[in-house]
Amino acid sequence: MERLQKVIAHAGVASRRKAEQLILDGKVTVNNKIVKELGVKVGVRDKVEVEGIPLQQEKKVYFALHKPRGFISAVADDKNRNTVADFFDRIVPERVYPVGRLDYDTAGVLLMTNDGEFANLMMHPRGEIDKVYLARVKGIANQENLRPLTKGVSIDGYKTKPATVELVSVDKKNNSSLVRLTIHEGRYHQVKKMLDAVNLPVKKLRRERFGTIDVNGLAQGEFRPLTPHEVKTLMATANDPHHVAQRPQDLGKMRRY
Ligand code: URA
Repeated sequence: MERLQKVIAHAGVASRRKAEQLILDGKVTVNNKIVKELGVKVGVRDKVEVEGIPLQQEKKVYFALHKPRGFISAVADDKNRNTVADFFDRIVPERVYPVGRLDYDTAGVLLMTNDGEFANLMMHPRGEIDKVYLARVKGIANQENLRPLTKGVSIDGYKTKPATVELVSVDKKNNSSLVRLTIHEGRYHQVKKMLDAVNLPVKKLRRERFGTIDVNGLAQGEFRPLTPHEVKTLMATANDPHHVAQRPQDLGKMRRY
């Protein structure tokens, strides 16, 4: 079930804001009844009409984007910065939006979809979907200063869930280290704040994997459709973290960073 204004916007009839106005103006019917409240949710079987014209609900689409740095994870920006939706304009007819977000200066795997239920499922921490990040940090990391991350650290008055941490390499000359962190949560600036909490501030961040999905073989700014099997696996994992064994991390392969 999705909010009526979202369904109208996704069908390409109007922006979300205009869709809200159409509802408030009494121009939208659900199953032949005028709906004037904004909170109403509809499913795929509901008959929605806008000004008497039936809505064609979009087919659901799912993509993995290799997000470059310098793009915001949104479909529009009031400061007119580049957004991840720009890559899909004029190529993908459906209105896709990001599943969660990567920071403006973070690169890597970002799922894009027009399926709100899927997006919510992916973002719910209960789903325990692995999110694997590779961070270039300032300072010399070692087992000792990384250990608190495996137990949980305090960020913004909240204790993070235990993370899996791997020290990939240390660059003594440049006083920096490469750390791989696997987390299930997705709070705002979570990885940066976690590494700040152990005095290893992030200089550069990349998401290598979201669940079973990576962007190997895609250049920055390129995207590919997820296969039905990939979508099913992600949903099964989110619904029951123990249901599907996730692909083990490919530790041997280091990508350019
Ligand atoms: N954590 C962060 O700090 N930034 C991201 O972009 C993703 C996770």
